[in-house]
Amino acid sequence: MSLFVSFEGGEGSGKTTQTDLLRQQLERVNVQYLFIHEPGHTNLGEHIRTLLKGNRFGKETISKGAELFLFVAARAELVSKVLKPSLKNKGAIIIADRFADSTIAYQGYGRKLPLDLVGSMNALATDDITPDMTFLLDCPPEVGLRRLGVTQIELGVQESEHVGRLDEEDSRKFEELPLAFHERVRQGYHELAQQEPGRWCIVDATKSEDDIHRKIWKRFRNLLETNGVDLAGNLTADDLLRPLDTPN
Ligand code: TMP
Repeated sequence: MSLFVSFEGGEGSGKTTQTDLLRQQLERVNVQYLFIHEPGHTNLGEHIRTLLKGNRFGKETISKGAELFLFVAARAELVSKVLKPSLKNKGAIIIADRFADSTIAYQGYGRKLPLDLVGSMNALATDDITPDMTFLLDCPPEVGLRRLGVTQIELGVQESEHVGRLDEEDSRKFEELPLAFHERVRQGYHELAQQEPGRWCIVDATKSEDDIHRKIWKRFRNLLETNGVDLAGNLTADDLLRPLDTPN
């Protein structure tokens, strides 16, 4: 049986740090995994990443619809060329930094595109593959954005929650969009988690890096063990000394 786990969260929620820590932990205990980060990992995906995140168009924006198609196209390619073949390998462990839920949260709730259409496009791209578990790194958007260097005034916190650095249509960089956009993204994630509580594990991303890592590792380790991965055999004396099971 294979295992597919995704990480989700808003801007500055610490996903990259936490996926890095989890990967280091897995390497320490000799557990093989495949790590994917959308959009990317295929030729088409890498091109799309450059289109979405690069400076190719300077400040020129991409329409909401085109943005949606680009994320979904990259996912369709990733699923058919990388994810599906990998999941066929018995015992495969796949960790994703963002997956289809990002599109619902960002393009559906954030950009306000119709949720049913976003859902149908995701279904087509993923072939209905859903993660076995999704960690949501949850924090108020102003906390995440401040970590990325966005100031109080730029956030508009002191004036009105709807004032950001730029208007909603004015940037391809999500971190430059108004606070209200990020609040909708967070709300979207919460609604998704409510719809499937068994899949989602909400982690308080305002806690320290170590606390968050311990909580994630504890859940991940349980998941591995329920999937028949005998971790004890892989743990070294050094790992056993680490406070992996410290209650959080
Ligand atoms: P990241 O590489 O830092 O995760 O950045 C990806 C950005 O793209 C992040 O701001 C979230 C956004 N995004 C979407 O809007 N929709 C999607 O489907 C995905 C995967 C990412």
